[in-house]
Amino acid sequence: MNSLTDDRRLRELLDRLHAASDRQIAAIDEYDRAGGPRPTGFEPDGAPERTFWLDKYVALDRDKAEFVYALCRAAGATRIVEAGTSFGVSTLYLAAAVRDNGGGLVTSGDIEATKAAVARRHLDEAGLSSSVDVLVGDVRETLPAIEDPVDVLLLDIWAPIAGDVAATVGPRLRTGGIIVADNTLARRQLYAGLFEHLDDPANGFTTQTLPFDGGLELAVKTAAGHPA
Ligand SMILES: C[S@@+](CC[C@H](N)C(=O)[O-])C[C@H]1O[C@@H](n2cnc3c(N)ncnc32)[C@H](O)[C@@H]1O
Repeated sequence: MNSLTDDRRLRELLDRLHAASDRQIAAIDEYDRAGGPRPTGFEPDGAPERTFWLDKYVALDRDKAEFVYALCRAAGATRIVEAGTSFGVSTLYLAAAVRDNGGGLVTSGDIEATKAAVARRHLDEAGLSSSVDVLVGDVRETLPAIEDPVDVLLLDIWAPIAGDVAATVGPRLRTGGIIVADNTLARRQLYAGLFEHLDDPANGFTTQTLPFDGGLELAVKTAAGHPA
């Protein structure tokens, strides 16, 4: 089964959510042009840097999301972790992949409780909520609790915090496991922490920036790496 083609309810939901995300791009561009503060992922509750993004999807582009779905299928992924749920667009693809692989669990974390609540509604609507655990809170606090071997880690979170997540979840990835991170070409400097982790031979990764819009990082854990 390929839910992306065979599940009409999911396809229609994804059409609607990608369209809603795309409709917000002009407002985000305008905010950036006006010098609106970009969040780092480290801001506490109530920080002004977080306010603008509360109603923004910032969804993973559809071609990237479909690629991630295909990767998860190729890897036979049944245990997936995601940093950055937002309204659950990429999470729907991950949940579809574990279901199509025969069943499993996606753990996805977002700091904004209101966004996580909407993501849960979308997962319910798609009939995929039993495959997903949405954790509310700072991923630096919620994701370290994960102990199982992880097949795929999707980093779709503000770039400066991605290195901390890779350092936490990276050691839980099985050999042959995958990290995907969005916009690594466009935000190379902001991803310094992530590349510090990926480029350290002790962590066992080989990584490439794929030529999607803004770059999409594909890091494969080719060696066991040192335990955390
Ligand atoms: C690019 S969006 C995620 C988009 C989502 N993956 C999708 O495709 O719909 C990034 C998300 O990271 C969340 N975030 C930022 N800092 C965080 C942190 N420290 N812990 C958890 N989530 C955080 C934001 O609230 C935002 O919803």
